[in-house]
Amino acid sequence: MSARRTIRPVHTVAELREQVKSWRAAEERIALVPTMGALHSGHVALMEAARAHAERVVLSIFVNPTQFAPTEDLSRYPRTLEADLDKADAAGVHLAFVPDVGEMYPEGFATTISLAGPALGLETEFRPTHFAGVATVVAKLLIQAAPDVALFGEKDYQQLQVITRLARDIDLPVRIVGVPTVREPDGLALSSRNVYLGKEDRAAAPVLHRALSAATAQIAGGGNVLDAIDDARRAVIAAGFQLDYLEARHAASLAPVLSRAEGPIRLLVAARIGATRLIDNLAVPD
Ligand code: PAF
Repeated sequence: MSARRTIRPVHTVAELREQVKSWRAAEERIALVPTMGALHSGHVALMEAARAHAERVVLSIFVNPTQFAPTEDLSRYPRTLEADLDKADAAGVHLAFVPDVGEMYPEGFATTISLAGPALGLETEFRPTHFAGVATVVAKLLIQAAPDVALFGEKDYQQLQVITRLARDIDLPVRIVGVPTVREPDGLALSSRNVYLGKEDRAAAPVLHRALSAATAQIAGGGNVLDAIDDARRAVIAAGFQLDYLEARHAASLAPVLSRAEGPIRLLVAARIGATRLIDNLAVPD
């Protein structure tokens, strides 16, 4: 731990609420950045953006078991709390909320949020219970921290749309803000799971961004959406990936689209290389 670290981690909802209450009494606005830790520059961008929205920034660090399927990487998900707290401190975060599983899911916990709309398809085809777990924990965090604004990375684009719709549908008084994806110089989107990539897989990984960039340029230049998507799928498969999906969707509803006339388009991809599953997305420019 850095000797100069001033951030104070709290572990209970009661402590979080007490701190938030005193900030509210001082008429300070509060921004929440929910994370599962293993913080990288993408998270730093979220924390820095949060400071522009509010006087006080709360970071939550909680590896949420309910969004992992039994076959997924919950037990080996990277946990780097001390380094995370140093990064949060350096980014100007005021409070880190670090609950344990019992605090978030007490004995007898029996409630889950059920979703449709932007949660249908894409990730849900491959991770059927994922967004119910995300929505449940995010709803809890939003109720616990009662922030004015909450920030999420566009890297998890479907998650961002699901949470935006969730907040609207159940009248949570919070503004959901998406923050652009931070990328490595070769285009690979930053992700806590990139640490799983071996050397060869890491070398192949930027193809996702290259394929999406080529397809968005093709569509923006008047090319046919399905042709552009087919080319991108072929490029990803040729680089050694097993493709889960590569789709063109309406940027807000995530409904399938066949032409630019149907609204703003977002291209989304999920693909596996070795034992690692990567996701990425890109907007088709207007
Ligand atoms: O994006 C993430 O890190 C997680 O899905 C989130 C939003 C913190 C919920 O656990």
